[in-house]
Amino acid sequence: MSTHIGAQPGDIAPLVLLPGDPLRARWIAETFPEDVRCYTEVRGMYGFTGTWRGHRVSVQGSGMGQPSMAIYVNELFDAYDVQSIVRVGSCGAMSERLAVRDIVIASGACTDSSMNRIRFEGLDYAPVADFGLLRAAHDAATAAGLDEAVHVGLIYSSDSFYPARPELAARMVDYGVLAVEMEASQLYTLAAKYDRRALAICTVSDHIVTGEETTAQEREQTFGAMVEIALTAGTA
Ligand code: ADE
Repeated sequence: MSTHIGAQPGDIAPLVLLPGDPLRARWIAETFPEDVRCYTEVRGMYGFTGTWRGHRVSVQGSGMGQPSMAIYVNELFDAYDVQSIVRVGSCGAMSERLAVRDIVIASGACTDSSMNRIRFEGLDYAPVADFGLLRAAHDAATAAGLDEAVHVGLIYSSDSFYPARPELAARMVDYGVLAVEMEASQLYTLAAKYDRRALAICTVSDHIVTGEETTAQEREQTFGAMVEIALTAGTA
C-alpha cells in the first residue's frame, strides 16, 4: 500500500473518477459500476474498483483543496500506475453566463495557491486539461442532449472557500474565468508531471453572483449526469 491509500498494486483501475467527498465516491460506486470492491478506507477516504460497461474503473475520494487532493493524485499516479483521472466535483458559478446545475468542463485552471509558485520558483505555469478527455467529455455531454447546460473554459482553483478578497472574483470573470472550485489546477499540473491524462468536470452547486443554490435532490441528479459524462469520456 502507499502512504494514504490502502490498496495493493493492481487493485486500482487505469481510469479513476475523483470526487472530493468520499461519500460521493461510495454513492458513485454503488450507483454506476458492477462487481464493486472497496480497496481503501484509510482516513475514511474511500476508494472502490468495479466494472462499468465492460471497463474496469475506480472511484477515489480526494478530500477538499489542492493539498489533500495532491496526496491522493501523487499516490495514484506514482504507486498504482493510474493513467487517467477525471475529477467529478462541484463549483461555484462566477460568470453570469452560468446557471446553477450547469456543468463546467475545465479546459484550464487558474489558482491563488502557492503550490505551483513554489514548484516553478515564481514562474507562472498554465495547467491545462488533456485534450482527448476534454473532447470526449464534450461529445458525451452533447450526445446526452446537454449542450445548453455544458460550458468549456477556464476555472479558478482557489485555496479559500471563504475568500478574503471576493472582489478579485469579478476581475477574473473579466478575463474569462467561469467558475470557482478548489482542485483542478494541481490535478492538471500533476498529470503533466507524470505524463498522464486528467480532466475536471464540475456541476454548478451555487452561484456566487446571484446567491442561488441547488437543493440536495438537484445536486444528486446533476451529479449523476456528470458521472455518466466522466465514465463515457474516460472509457472512450
Ligand atoms: N465548490 C462549490 N462551490 C464552491 C465555491 N463557491 N467556492 C469554492 N469551491 C466551491
